[in-house]
Amino acid sequence: MAISLKVNGPRRSVPAEPDTPLLYVLRNDLALNGAKFGCGLAQCGACTVLLDGQAVRSCVTEIDSIGEAEVTTIEGLGTIDKPHPLQQAFIDEQAAQCGYCINGMIMTAKGLLDRNPHPTAAEVREALSQNLCRCGTHGRIIRAVLRAAENMGKT
Ligand code: FES
Ligand code: FES
Repeated sequence: MAISLKVNGPRRSVPAEPDTPLLYVLRNDLALNGAKFGCGLAQCGACTVLLDGQAVRSCVTEIDSIGEAEVTTIEGLGTIDKPHPLQQAFIDEQAAQCGYCINGMIMTAKGLLDRNPHPTAAEVREALSQNLCRCGTHGRIIRAVLRAAENMGKT
C-alpha cells in the first residue's frame, strides 16, 4: 500500500506496509541516508529525526503512526554551502570522530534548541544523555551545541 508522508517540506508517497519503521522508508525509499541504523531498538539515537519538532527514534517509529506530522531529517537542516548553525558548530568544534552518531546528535540538539534556545551545559548533557557515541567525543559535542546556541542568539 502507499503511505503519504511530509518530509523536509514536500509530501511524498511511498509504497510500504503501515508498520514499516520510518528509518527504513527514509533510507530505502527516499534516499535520505542521514539518519543511521545503529541498534534498531531505540537505544542509541543514531536514527534520530524530528517529528513536528520533537526528537524521535525513527527505527521504532512506524510510519502509520506519523499521520500529518512533519518529518525533518538532517538533510532538511542546511546545505554544504549554507550549513545550519548546529552543523557549522559541529564542524568548528571538530566534534565528529567516525561521525556515525553525529547526525542523531545534531537532530536531538535541534529539538533541544528549538524549545530552549539558551541551554546550560547540564541541560545539553541531559538532552543528549540517551544518544551514544562510541568514539567518546561527548565533550566536543557538548561544546558544539553550546557554540551553536551562542551563535544563533547573535543572529
Ligand atoms: S538505531 Fe534507532 S535508536 Fe539506535
Ligand atoms: S563520532 Fe563515532 S560514534 Fe560518535
